[in-house]
Amino acid sequence: MRMTVLGTGYLGATHAACMAELGHDVLGVDVDPSKLAKLEAGEVPFYEPGLQEVLKRNIDEGRLRFTDSYEEAADFADVHFLAVGTPQKRGEYGADLKYVDAVIDTLSRLITRPAVIFGKSTVPVGTAERLGRRARELAPSGVQIEVAWNPEFLREGHAVEDTLRPDRLVVGVDETAPSRAEGIAREIYEKTISSGTPFVLTNLATAELVKAAANAFLATKISFINAIAEVCEAADGDITQLADAIGHDDRIGRKFLNAGIGFGGGCLPKDIRAFMARAGELGADQALTFLREVDNINMRRRTQMVELTRRECGGFLGARVAILGAAFKPESDDVRDSPALNIAGQIHLQGADVRVYDPKAMENSRRLFPTLTYSESIEEACEGADVLLVLTEWKEFISLTPQDIGKRVRSKRVIDGRNCLDGAQWRAGGWTYRGLGRALGNTK
Ligand code: UGA
Repeated sequence: MRMTVLGTGYLGATHAACMAELGHDVLGVDVDPSKLAKLEAGEVPFYEPGLQEVLKRNIDEGRLRFTDSYEEAADFADVHFLAVGTPQKRGEYGADLKYVDAVIDTLSRLITRPAVIFGKSTVPVGTAERLGRRARELAPSGVQIEVAWNPEFLREGHAVEDTLRPDRLVVGVDETAPSRAEGIAREIYEKTISSGTPFVLTNLATAELVKAAANAFLATKISFINAIAEVCEAADGDITQLADAIGHDDRIGRKFLNAGIGFGGGCLPKDIRAFMARAGELGADQALTFLREVDNINMRRRTQMVELTRRECGGFLGARVAILGAAFKPESDDVRDSPALNIAGQIHLQGADVRVYDPKAMENSRRLFPTLTYSESIEEACEGADVLLVLTEWKEFISLTPQDIGKRVRSKRVIDGRNCLDGAQWRAGGWTYRGLGRALGNTK
């Protein structure tokens, strides 16, 4: 099937490449010439394992092209995916919908044949219905445009796998009017559905809410375990053992129960805030007040890490702090609202000499936080350090041994912000090891 993907950021570039991989004829559309130039050359403008190969193969085989022309997009296909960003508004909790609105306004005027626009961006409930009305208003007379919602659940670092083999497909349609969207969606995802992926058909509001609720649940799960980690710290408990133990109950499950410096990235933090803001507008604000606490617990983890580091160094002035990890999670170069970079920044601003190393996120970190000192390797970051912080659980940090860097540091102290190191091994190597959520008062 022919289709366009409007917006070629993280979500759009992945979706475009994966739809071509499923055999469709895809046109990716963006207004950013530098992004388009890279994509056209078969280069992914961010780090995402496996995406480069899928992108290149489908460009070479002629199923995937890119353009900045909405005229071309309207002419090319009658199925369009809306995949532009919905960032948090400046100084407010709500989502900024200006990019979504701009796409609908531009495209709808140019469409000349009946078309379906599937929204993939994360939007406040009620947006799809509003966009549908707007598209119908702007469409040339006699041209039918339907807006349906097909939320995306991909995780950065696993984007290709999550798009090609999702654990569910959700499609929301306008149930008050005749809809072609369900049939078209079933055709687009035919291979995925026939391999057993559940297809959940809902109304527009439910589809939008499924996405918001999924991210709110994940954020809540992480903050739950981090709240229990605070109690472990006070009571001499061990959060990792606790998470393993409760995770054996399959009603609870072990996934997303990794305590540490908390969640960040371009989705969970802004999505729970936008969800609260929208519930408030709808008069259901009390329903989601717990998400404010979820956010507070999460932000407190960063402060806790800074304070723990201060204690370990005996004050920040004159101290050198090695920081391994800047990305918000491993297998990603994304530093948007990254707990690691936030902690590095706070410690630096409070007077310590901070050296940061990340295998993939150095360029983005430098852009976001140019005044930090960046190192080219783990060894360089650790040189003369009074304390070592591991803040993103990259494989190469997990596999470090205490001997690897013992000679580089000034003082053998490590704080494990992701509970990803083997504490016993580090202690046996002569280091003071501390993990968040693990009896912080105890030096052994
Ligand atoms: C998240 C959701 O997991 C996806 O399903 C969703 O599609 C996506 O947001 C989105 O809305 O676009 P992502 O932001 O890629 O995906 O990252 P996650 O894997 O959810 O991790 C988010 C943060 O939580 C990271 O900072 C990670 O380190 C942290 N985390 C995760 C923990 O602190 N503990 C855990 O146990 C798991």
